Amino acid sequence: MTNNEKPQFNQWYETNNETDQLVRQATANQGEQHDELSLRPQFLREYIGQEPLKEELSVYISAAKQREEALDHVLLFGPPGLGKTTLAMIIANEMSVNIKTTSGPAIEKPGDLVALLNELEPGDILFIDEIHRLPTNVEEIMYSAMEDYFVDIMVGQGPTARAVHFPLPPFTLIGATTRPGMLSKPLRDRFGIISGMAYYTTNELKEIVVRSSDIFKAPIKSEGAYEVALRSRGTPRIANRLLKRVRDFAQVQGKSAIDRQIVDIALDKLRVDNRGLDDTDHKLLDTMIEYYQGGPVGLNTIAANIGEESETLESMVEPYLLQIGFLQRTPRGRVVTEAAYNHLGVPYQKEIQ
Ligand code: ADE
Repeated sequence: MTNNEKPQFNQWYETNNETDQLVRQATANQGEQHDELSLRPQFLREYIGQEPLKEELSVYISAAKQREEALDHVLLFGPPGLGKTTLAMIIANEMSVNIKTTSGPAIEKPGDLVALLNELEPGDILFIDEIHRLPTNVEEIMYSAMEDYFVDIMVGQGPTARAVHFPLPPFTLIGATTRPGMLSKPLRDRFGIISGMAYYTTNELKEIVVRSSDIFKAPIKSEGAYEVALRSRGTPRIANRLLKRVRDFAQVQGKSAIDRQIVDIALDKLRVDNRGLDDTDHKLLDTMIEYYQGGPVGLNTIAANIGEESETLESMVEPYLLQIGFLQRTPRGRVVTEAAYNHLGVPYQKEIQ
């Protein structure tokens, strides 16, 4: 479809809403993340880890390309930093289509969504991060857009208000969320491909660290890379962040390569322990042990005690502690495990619950 045939939504929207801030915001965000972007793999073959997901996606991508159709809508869920945005960009590259990036909270009203959708060419990808935070009235518009590629929205106010029907090109919505349980069933049901992302193994993270240090032209010894990987909580974003800081220490100390010793020095300074726990993890575990005898204690109580939002604890802090077996969820609340006591060097005196 050419632009002339397109319903002139943007014209109406720009005069009625001053700017289409949203599209601009999406573009600006990509610019800000330039450093991170340069580390991002561009194609599936360069992407390390998430093997089952990659295999599945490569089948769906090949099939959609053969049929010359838009890829079915994709929902990616999992803890932050595992590469959901990177994968969305890779999918766009592999499909040779454009991608527009935005986030659930940035789309405040139905018109914002329509402005984004109206920019899409056939086959393009709209990537919505934190899709669980889409406002309900926006989400409702999304249903027909996803299922039948059209939106009906009300234009104008009062007696002049009228419903306008906008056909859309076939497109792919890629939604990412750290909280899949918060997605409504009608929205979830409209994704044809739903995949969870798993924490990375230490060896996968080590490969990522080596790849990133190659890109930085900062040589790293095998044991150095392994140590960074061990302390990165299964998360590439953390591995790359720690690597950058370790590189700073190595450079200032005039090291020709990042070795195990400089990694230990840098990460001890950054207060990241040998299992990747940081101050927030320590505060959480220490508080539970000191004030609640290791639990069971409710998440809201812990959050209030350590001055964090429960949602932050639930989506960003707790998942890794559960994964490495330092915390357990029980019907009566969270419990610190014996493994965590051992790691912290605190005597474990609890009766079996
Ligand atoms: N950088 C960040 N995540 C990555 C991944 N999964 N593979 C390769 N490089 C990465």
